[in-house]
Amino acid sequence: MTTTHSQPAIEVNGLRKSFGNHVVLDGIDLTVPQGTVFSLLGANGAGKTTTVQILSTLIGADAGEVRVAGHDVAREPDAVRAAIGVTGQFSAVDNLMTGRENLALMADLHHLSRGDGQRRAAELLEQFDLTGAAGKPASTYSGGMRRRLDLAMTLIGNPQVIFLDEPTTGLDPRSRRDMWQIVRDLVATGVTVFLTTQYLEEADELADRIAVLDHGRLVAEGTADELKRQIPGSHIRLRFADSHNLEEAARILEQTSRDGDALALRVPSDGSVRSLKTVIDRLDDKAVDVEELSVHTPDLDDVFFAFTGNRDDQKAIS
Ligand SMILES: Nc1ncnc2c1ncn2[C@@H]1O[C@H](COP(=O)(O)OP(=O)(O)OP(=O)(O)O)[C@@H](O)[C@H]1O
Ligand SMILES: [Mg+2]
Repeated sequence: MTTTHSQPAIEVNGLRKSFGNHVVLDGIDLTVPQGTVFSLLGANGAGKTTTVQILSTLIGADAGEVRVAGHDVAREPDAVRAAIGVTGQFSAVDNLMTGRENLALMADLHHLSRGDGQRRAAELLEQFDLTGAAGKPASTYSGGMRRRLDLAMTLIGNPQVIFLDEPTTGLDPRSRRDMWQIVRDLVATGVTVFLTTQYLEEADELADRIAVLDHGRLVAEGTADELKRQIPGSHIRLRFADSHNLEEAARILEQTSRDGDALALRVPSDGSVRSLKTVIDRLDDKAVDVEELSVHTPDLDDVFFAFTGNRDDQKAIS
């Protein structure tokens, strides 16, 4: 048995789930270390919410083993629930109640005493910049305020593991950035975050590890950089002071191509330090001068399209 400290916050093996004969999860394995952010990417209907619902004990799996905060979700659902917080894709905020009342209700559900509940609610309202609006009905809140209240409600019970299902969908860029900062602050306190998102930039910003869900399986998993390196399109761009150096370099390095800049060459590369060093060494050997060098890796949008097989589906629609 490993110690509690090194135990992963989330461990999933062979997870399967179907609705009728529609297979949504077809054998998912993943591990999320404590105090990290894991992001699950996938197109609409890929099964992100289904995964969150199983990991947070809201629905059962058909097969597989899922442990969250050290407890099996099927055998010890109450222990899992005590350790987690879930901010669903659709808001849990009650519009007729004020922000403070929404938090008080959550505090009751977590069996906090009245005094503790009030204290915790006040702290969270302050932390999420909602103190001024605390007495107003949630129906008057902007989308960003509602999302912050939703997350504050999730945090009432001081969860160790937080599930955020598309936390910033529909938010403007500033509110999205505010939400990212909140997530970073949470992780800094040791909390583990399991995040689903449609925004690849969000995964890039926040996630330690990213997985791409497609047709029921994880088709890619790794850090944002690892994923970007796996797909074609990475290259080293070399810029030269004059055409003599450029021609020399083009001769020495195979497979170069030009881009818009007459004095620049592109060399295919996986973006790793090793491949960079190889290129530089070969040019150095022949005393070719490079004026400027940059490494270009594809962004997560490229990764998403490379790994998900839904381009044919899109073709079928259009
Ligand atoms: N209770 C249910 N009964 C039947 N089918 C369901 C049920 N819940 C989800 N599904 C189906 O399972 C698939 C995955 O749904 P899910 O909500 O997990 O996707 P998602 O990745 O969260 O999508 P989105 O990005 O749109 O939120 C979809 O085809 C959906 O229609
Ligand atoms: Mg969803």
